[in-house]
Amino acid sequence: MERILCLLTGYVFGLFQTGYLYGKMHHIDIRQYGSGNSGTTNALRVMGKKAGLLVFMGDFLKTVFACLLVRLVMKGDPSVDLYVLYAGLGVVLGHNFPFYLHFKGGKGIASMAGILVSMDWRVTLVCASLFLGAVILTRYVSLGSILVVTAFFIQMVFFGLRGDYAVAEGDRMEFFAVAGVLMVMAIWRHRANIRRLLKGTENKLWGNKEK
Ligand code: G3P
Repeated sequence: MERILCLLTGYVFGLFQTGYLYGKMHHIDIRQYGSGNSGTTNALRVMGKKAGLLVFMGDFLKTVFACLLVRLVMKGDPSVDLYVLYAGLGVVLGHNFPFYLHFKGGKGIASMAGILVSMDWRVTLVCASLFLGAVILTRYVSLGSILVVTAFFIQMVFFGLRGDYAVAEGDRMEFFAVAGVLMVMAIWRHRANIRRLLKGTENKLWGNKEK
């Protein structure tokens, strides 16, 4: 029951679609432009730097708030980190599949950043470095995103096996499974990006060649 409540709490927070709402305030449906995604990268691409920053902050903070709320409510529980991860999964589900937008939302990467910060500063540092390194070197945000979600899962397993998280022994496999679902879902949401990366036609953050 706690798991479902954490997921639902996260889902409700995830429904706050910063990119979509910011676009609406400026009389555009961001999903009709650029990559069609309602997240940070497309907000930056379509509406500029200020929009990109605000959309990132909104999507990032909604996750931090949801995870913090669950952490406070479940404080003292031997599996509190599992519940925080469920809340993060709920946010990503609400962000990616908002019922009031016909389940067409974003890809959940800024929300994933909120999960990292809520879980472990070491994982945050590694993922932020990987992301920045990949984006600066290749200019592909999608590549950075795929690297980050993969590194997130590997580190959740690594630190989880070391017993660094508040997850009861019997809940450990479930903790890894939830982290795995987050990774697989993020990669799946990037399937069109992956096809474009393989074909060499993916949008770069800056300096795209005129076609
Ligand atoms: O966070 C989303 C990013 O990885 C890709 O965004 O709009 O280029 O599909 P986009």
